[in-house]
Amino acid sequence: MLDQFLTLPCGLTIKNRIVKSAMTERMAAADGSPTPRLIHLFERFSKGGVGMMLTGNVAVDGQQLEGFGNVTFETFGHPEPYRRWAAAGRREGVPIIVQLNHPGRQAMRNVAEQPVAPSAIGLPNKKYFAVPRALTEVEIHEIIENFVSAAKKVSAAGFAGVEIHAAHGYLISQFLSPNVNVRTDQWGGPLVNRSRLLIQIIRQIRASVPPSFAVGVKLNAGDFVKGGMGPEESALIMQDLDTLRVDFIEISGGTFERPASFGAGLPKSTREREGYFLDLAAMARRVTTVPLILTGGLRSSAAMNGALSSGVCDMIGLARPLAVEPDFPRRLLSDPAACAISPELKLPKGPISTLAELLWYREQLDRISVGKSPNLHGSALFALFRTLARDKWLGWRRHRFIRRLAKSSKASLRESAA
Ligand SMILES: Cc1cc2nc3c(=O)[nH]c(=O)nc-3n(C[C@H](O)[C@H](O)[C@H](O)COP(=O)(O)O)c2cc1C
Repeated sequence: MLDQFLTLPCGLTIKNRIVKSAMTERMAAADGSPTPRLIHLFERFSKGGVGMMLTGNVAVDGQQLEGFGNVTFETFGHPEPYRRWAAAGRREGVPIIVQLNHPGRQAMRNVAEQPVAPSAIGLPNKKYFAVPRALTEVEIHEIIENFVSAAKKVSAAGFAGVEIHAAHGYLISQFLSPNVNVRTDQWGGPLVNRSRLLIQIIRQIRASVPPSFAVGVKLNAGDFVKGGMGPEESALIMQDLDTLRVDFIEISGGTFERPASFGAGLPKSTREREGYFLDLAAMARRVTTVPLILTGGLRSSAAMNGALSSGVCDMIGLARPLAVEPDFPRRLLSDPAACAISPELKLPKGPISTLAELLWYREQLDRISVGKSPNLHGSALFALFRTLARDKWLGWRRHRFIRRLAKSSKASLRESAA
């Protein structure tokens, strides 16, 4: 099954069912453009046998980053680096889909001093996350416009499509959540209002890009947070997406409060069984005909082929296994007994455990991007400390770029007024 091709509703054909899921690379230049290292990373992944690649999250608003080093579009006036990134999988016939994101309240203090969100409700960890400001109606329309404008640029650069990040507790997921979104206007309250942002973004992107351009969504099967969006509401959204010419739904789950996408906080039996969201994918399958990508916890060829042949999903999303073995898809395709490598990773205890784990895996991307092999040992806590130091430098560089950008746009305003 894994080796079978698949054609998405937009006509894009994928040579097999293995998808590289999004992993934030944080390798952009100060001006937000893709760097040669980032492009090399995707060339390397494309050689590993994967059928389709999703980028890590790309910011639709350069002032609202998920992390320093996110790709942005401020310098799209010079599209060459974006074009080269879009072409990184072409030689191997592997399409690249750009994940578009707005972090909302889930940006750490060092990245966003004043985050925005549907309502002024902060994450419990106030030391690292500032309380957000509630968005105005005008700002919500600007955000929709930012997603649409980003998707048009992605299409113009030659990428195969976009994936709208509506999962993991970022801005769109915050709108979907009844305990983060307590607005009383047309963007809050009943599900039809809470999902309006996502639906508007999809509708307007679809109307602005060619029909052959893929438009997908990463959606939580559930937030796994008390009072958050549950599986029943997620299923209703999937039903709506069915009518919007969506090319795929990637099923994931959780938020920063409960990082279920990494299996954290899920029952032991679910974590040990492969495919954290397998039951929820089965539920999704009953309500939508949109191709489904199941992501999270899948490790063996047997489990992946089982999920595909049972019909609960159409593609398998893999993240951590590819960060430690970019050629894992080749092994999966040639060996029915293949299983992902489990690195010997020392994780800190407590709430920073998942963040440290993510940063350790992200550091493997750094190694791959410069032609090194992943390092299968190491301490995730050290990865966290190294990231904090790296962020100081990336943050200084980024702020200097933003100041220069503001100065030059003021100067050109003055010139045009004169
Ligand atoms: C280093 C790293 C970075 C990630 N960055 C993103 C991201 O930018 N966007 C996203 O939707 N998910 C991100 N994820 C989550 C993965 O896409 C995936 O949902 C999760 O890791 C579960 O899949 P796995 O069990 O195959 O790793 C990231 C995961 C890792 C390991």
